[in-house]
Amino acid sequence: MRGSVLAVVAVLLCATCRLGCAFIDGLVPNGNFELGPKPSDMKGTVVIGKYAIPKWEISGFVEYIKSGQKQGDMLLVVPEGAFAVRLGNEASIKQRLRVQKGMYYSITFSAARTCAQEEKLNISVAPDSGVLPMQTLYSSNGWDSYAWAFQAELDVAEIVIHNPGVEEDPACGPLIDSIAIRALYPPKATNKNLLKNGGFEEGPYIFQNTSWGVLIPPNIEDDHSPLPGWMVESLKAVKYIDSAHFSVPGGYRAIELVAGKESAIAQVARTIPGKTYTLFFAVGDASNSCEGSMIVEAFAGRDTIKVPYESKGKGGFKRAVLRFKAVSTRTRIMFYSTFYTMRSDDFSSLCGPVVDDVVLLSVRNPRLM
Ligand SMILES: *[C@@H]1O[C@H](CO)[C@@H](O)[C@H](O)[C@H]1NC(C)=O
Ligand SMILES: *[C@@H]1O[C@H](CO)[C@@H](O)[C@H](O)[C@H]1NC(C)=O
Repeated sequence: MRGSVLAVVAVLLCATCRLGCAFIDGLVPNGNFELGPKPSDMKGTVVIGKYAIPKWEISGFVEYIKSGQKQGDMLLVVPEGAFAVRLGNEASIKQRLRVQKGMYYSITFSAARTCAQEEKLNISVAPDSGVLPMQTLYSSNGWDSYAWAFQAELDVAEIVIHNPGVEEDPACGPLIDSIAIRALYPPKATNKNLLKNGGFEEGPYIFQNTSWGVLIPPNIEDDHSPLPGWMVESLKAVKYIDSAHFSVPGGYRAIELVAGKESAIAQVARTIPGKTYTLFFAVGDASNSCEGSMIVEAFAGRDTIKVPYESKGKGGFKRAVLRFKAVSTRTRIMFYSTFYTMRSDDFSSLCGPVVDDVVLLSVRNPRLM
């Protein structure tokens, strides 16, 4: 009797935690900066006072920007709601969030460059930090969303986004909007797939109101990847896309290889030397006016296959297979696009082939196949 009461209480606690923790997936409090400073806390567009923006702590030259505001002859637009912040030289914004110790989280935020210089943002949750380059524009309106992941070492995560730049014009700095967080549940390899997260279904938060996907930045190691299981080892980001805004071969999510050979994803699988394996995957286009002859190169250790795909930019995919004999206990599976492609409706936006449904299986009796 007592046992079952305890069980019920445990279930209820669990349910409340689920509800209580539900805020975790989505915008952080005032993550779209719609709650702004009081006029007395502002000097023009510059925010005066550490705690002037509700839910945030700021430092340095931070501006509060209204959508439609002009900078020179550039009209500043904001992806979510009507307001955003701009981080000038050495400026930062900070927020503390309750999290679950030990859990992995991915943060997604939208940022736009406003000056011609290369800009970078340093995002951190101590002791982890990552410097995200914003060197290449991937979407035409200037805004891109970026993902970064961390493992919570404490029950509270202090998220800091810092512009380490030192530009001549102190107001030159990226606009930031829509900061969201999502708990990650790292998938495991199974006997149905020796790769983890082969369908890319587990990944960072994607904003419903943005149609440009989320960039998984370069130099992402697998232990802290916003795309669990996968690493981005290349110089440039890969793009995480969803079926609500793009065409994806399977499930709800996929990867778009947006920067040719500079944009690669990889995963290391455990293999048995001498055994034969098959790597299955889908290659397609995201239905985003990315047209032309594309080639995805897949690697499994030393073996490789080039998969051509003729894209009309209207969606679609084909399946491909790479069969190989493992030579090591660890085999690196990697994909990149041979070519650079630009959207036919917007020559300033990089795009590329989509990869999805990646499955690695060992072949029981290779001679029978
Ligand atoms: C990024 O920020 C963190 C936390 O403030 C800091 O420890 C780290 O050194 C910074 N990285 C760079 C490259 O500035
Ligand atoms: C998305 O955009 C619509 C229309 O602009 C707006 O009504 C809605 O509140 C937005 N949703 C979010 C989550 O911001």
